[in-house]
Amino acid sequence: VGTLGNAAAAQGRYFGAAVSTAHLGESAYAAALDAEFGAVTPENEMKWDTIESSQNSFNFGPGDQIVAHAQAQNMLIRGHTLVWYQQLPGWVSGLSASALESAMNNHITQVMTHYKGKIYAWDVVNEAFQDGGSGARRSSPFQDKIGNGYIEEAFRTARAADPNAKLCYNDYNTDGVNAKSTAVYNMVKDFKARGVPIDCVGFQGHFNSQSPVPSDFQANLQRFADLGVDVQMTEVDVAGSGTAQANSYSTIVKGCLAVTRCTGITVWGVTDKYSWRSSDTPLLLDGNYQKKPSYDAVLAAL
Ligand code: XIL
Repeated sequence: VGTLGNAAAAQGRYFGAAVSTAHLGESAYAAALDAEFGAVTPENEMKWDTIESSQNSFNFGPGDQIVAHAQAQNMLIRGHTLVWYQQLPGWVSGLSASALESAMNNHITQVMTHYKGKIYAWDVVNEAFQDGGSGARRSSPFQDKIGNGYIEEAFRTARAADPNAKLCYNDYNTDGVNAKSTAVYNMVKDFKARGVPIDCVGFQGHFNSQSPVPSDFQANLQRFADLGVDVQMTEVDVAGSGTAQANSYSTIVKGCLAVTRCTGITVWGVTDKYSWRSSDTPLLLDGNYQKKPSYDAVLAAL
């Protein structure tokens, strides 16, 4: 499970990367993945537009490739993601409320059943809250047609489909204490109080100079953990380079390790070359798979 993966495992955590099937055939990419990481998240292959682009017709091929690679390497797999307003095929938003509810439950059930027993944690619902100070839900077909209850319905359906997978809520700009993270916090607290099944909260961790690692990052993870859920850094990348970038990564790793229920960290890609924000050079290995100061900082902090 790789060098970073092994260092994390010695701390009882995982250290993973987002991967794409498109690059698995590149030997340098696969070698870097296998040499360093102990967990994978499919970057796009388990999203609705790939898996169910037309209703009730499922394409598991790309996701299966990643699962096969990960299993051969004894890597954990995070499933990403079941219910999200982006990368959603047009047919979904065209449905009536009751048809959408059935389609959502069917999607969750079919996908989780296909991958049953293979997934460590699923991002059941992704990015359901608005940015800014309102703490309100984000407009989406699910929110607008089914209403607030769609999230708990998704989690209940998910629990029934694969009782052994951890069920996570995942979002961004929730890494510090702010109105958005507090809205998520209040939802999780309510779910725990009412017995709605939820096991973990994912913090994406996309950072840049406008949105740096918050000073209350560790305290925020801890307040969620204190609700009785695991927490995970799920999509970490930090725009920049050199010492500043390395220091941000170090803060993230140390913050997670200081929280007993922070079970692992995933960076959003193996190499800067294929990052979704490639020009930000936000990852641990450069475009030639060379280790950056950010890599050294992570390894030192683990
Ligand atoms: C991104 C992928 O990295 C891109 O390849 C794709 O074009 C768009 O989605 N939050 C998420 C991830 O939860 O799924 C997103 O991934 C990045 C933001």
